[in-house]
Parts: sequence; structure tokens; C-alpha cells
Amino acid sequence: MKKLIAANWKMNMTMAETRGFVKNLLQSVEKHPEILEKSELIICAPHVYLSALSTFCEKGVVSIGAQDCSAHNKGAYTGEISTGMLKDVGCTHVIVGHSERREYHGEKNESVCEKAKTAHKDGLTAVICIGESQSERKANLQEKVVERQLLESVPKNATAGNTVIAYEPVWAIGTGKTPSPDDAEQMHIFIRAFLTKHYSDGQDMPILYGGSMNPKNANELLSIPNIDGGLIGGASLKVEDYLAIAQSA
Ligand code: PGA
Repeated sequence: MKKLIAANWKMNMTMAETRGFVKNLLQSVEKHPEILEKSELIICAPHVYLSALSTFCEKGVVSIGAQDCSAHNKGAYTGEISTGMLKDVGCTHVIVGHSERREYHGEKNESVCEKAKTAHKDGLTAVICIGESQSERKANLQEKVVERQLLESVPKNATAGNTVIAYEPVWAIGTGKTPSPDDAEQMHIFIRAFLTKHYSDGQDMPILYGGSMNPKNANELLSIPNIDGGLIGGASLKVEDYLAIAQSA
């Protein structure tokens, strides 16, 4: 299976930078077509750039994703963006339940689940984020926390075709810290066991690792069993770093 190398640009980049990034990326991929044999590239950009991004990426080398969506289809929800709109501008993926949305916007598992269901209805793949905090890890509660997030955030009829799980320990996001290979492996085994138990094709549902993945540690992280790719923040803002990660797949 190809590794999913998903960029999460968060609230970064300008229109000019977006254009430049894609131009560089397409040139590099043309020179190194082997990158695409091993990895599938996804860029999750701020909403305002999605439409342009899908025009820049029209060759289909890169899939486009949003970083959030509304749980509603349409109507009086000022400021929200529906999954139908995302699809309309060329998105195939949408991140839901990122820890920054959970922390700064009070998102709960239940609303994450509603967003994922809405994404599925519109034919988008939901990238559902889960992960424990520092204090939960210290108290050895990580599996309990992650199990509850999985139970409550992932729709019951999710499939390997429309759902990607992103395990992102909150303490590893943007901090330069990562779990030890053993800890990462153990958690991904735990998540795989959960998915296999609850979903008929759970064996095939991709599980990404996210949190300070960079060109230096990507090789080690991506070689761990049940790590099917990465959700990459900081290191996805430079095309060289992003592609170096894809290359280590
Ligand atoms: P980071 O972010 O790679 O900058 O740690 C990952 C994420 O939040 O998705």
C-alpha cells in the first residue's frame, strides 16, 4: 500500500507561496517520479486557497484536502464551509477533529463524528484526528483516551475507503518531540486492533502518525508497522522537506 503523505498547512502560506510550492513540487515529481510509486500526496490548505490549489494541481499528482468542515449541509451558518462546497472546489479529503480544533474551538468527539458523516455523504475522505495530551500520557491513560476518541469520533459505518485515522499525540505537535519507536508502534497496534474489531475492513483503514514528523525522523517512523503515512504540519511548509518525507516512504 502506498504511504499517505498529508501536508497540514494550518493557517500558513499566501496565494503566491501556494503557487510557488505547487510549481516546485510538480517539477520535483517530474524529476523523481518514483516518489509517486511509494506515496500518495495530499495537501490540506486553508479554505481560501483550496480552489486555486486544485487548479494548480490539475494534473492530479496531488490530492486536495481541507482542514475542517461544517457538520451541516447548507443554510444559515455564517462563516462555515460545507463538505459539498469543498467537493465543488476539488477537495477529496477533509481533516476533522484536529487537536487544535478540539483545544481552541471546543470540538468534541460527537461533533467530529457528525462532520465525518457529512464528509462521507458528500464522497469525501475524512481524516479523523485523535491523540492524547501530555498529562494523559504521563498518567499512562493514552490507550483509554484514544479508545474513547475512536469510539465516539469515527462513524459506525466508516470504511477503509472513506476514512483515515491520524494518531497525533498532542504533546508531539509542533514541539519537536516524538514518541519512541516502541511507543509509536504500540499505539498503532492498539489502534489497528480497535479498527479490526469494529470495522469489517478495519485492517485496511489507513492510520497516519502526526506530530513533529520531519525529514530526519520520517524514515524511522514510516517503517513502523501500522504507520501508513504521516500528517505533517511544520515540515510540510517547505517543498524540499515535504518531498524528503515522501521520499523516505
Ligand atoms: P507538526 O504538526 O508536524 O508541526 O507537529 C502536525 C499536525 O498538527 O498535524
